[in-house]
Amino acid sequence: VTDLSLLHLDSSANRSDASVTRQLTALFADAWLARHGHSGYRHRDLAADPVPPLDTAYCTLGRRVERRGLVPLADVPALAIDEAEHRAWALTEPLVAELLAADTVLIGAPMYNYSVPAALKAWIDRVTFPGAFLDPVTGDSALRDTRVVVIASRGGTYRADPRHDFQTTYLRSYFDRHGVTDMTVVTAELAVADLVPHLAPYRQLAADSLAAARAEVAELAEFSAVTG
Ligand SMILES: Cc1cc2nc3c(=O)[nH]c(=O)nc-3n(C[C@H](O)[C@H](O)[C@H](O)COP(=O)(O)O)c2cc1C
Repeated sequence: VTDLSLLHLDSSANRSDASVTRQLTALFADAWLARHGHSGYRHRDLAADPVPPLDTAYCTLGRRVERRGLVPLADVPALAIDEAEHRAWALTEPLVAELLAADTVLIGAPMYNYSVPAALKAWIDRVTFPGAFLDPVTGDSALRDTRVVVIASRGGTYRADPRHDFQTTYLRSYFDRHGVTDMTVVTAELAVADLVPHLAPYRQLAADSLAAARAEVAELAEFSAVTG
């Protein structure tokens, strides 16, 4: 058991037994837990327990904070002027703290309509409060030592032509722009080939893609067990 921490996020609306991303994130999490124990582990099911979408109070508080430049998170409550803003911060701060505390962030991210599920986007919008990831003194990213592992899956295939992939390209850009330097994306493609009759010819490719993703996740989890 170590003092390392893993924040595990799932965002598929499918039941675990039907969800490719949930099965793959569980594979990683189980290996991590076997090595590091439960004390640093936090699981958030963003589909079952959704993060509320942003409201006006979040924006007015955010704008007030932005106007001041770099504000330490501990000073934000003093800038809230009414009940709604305090409530907005009370919904936001624990999620930000959880993210900043994590050595590794594991994200299950299915493709929904070419992008990520709204449940995951709602979490992203909320944790990305102005200045939340910046050191208030140096302005450096507080996420520069955070390891991000994204487990992506989608019904179709986008590897050959990523023009319509706003899922993995979006997550790569988002974390890159916020200073994450250690990011791995594992992608299972053609995940609905077993289900959809006209994709039947792709069933072998789908099975190969899933097997490759499982092997990648197992290897990542192994690596993570050794290095943290
Ligand atoms: C609401 C919804 C929208 C989807 N949109 C797309 C899409 O635009 N492109 C695609 O390739 N697959 C799409 N799919 C298929 C999923 O990406 C695929 O089934 C994936 O494995 C879902 O993740 P899960 O297995 O973890 O639930 C969609 C599925 C759902 C439920």
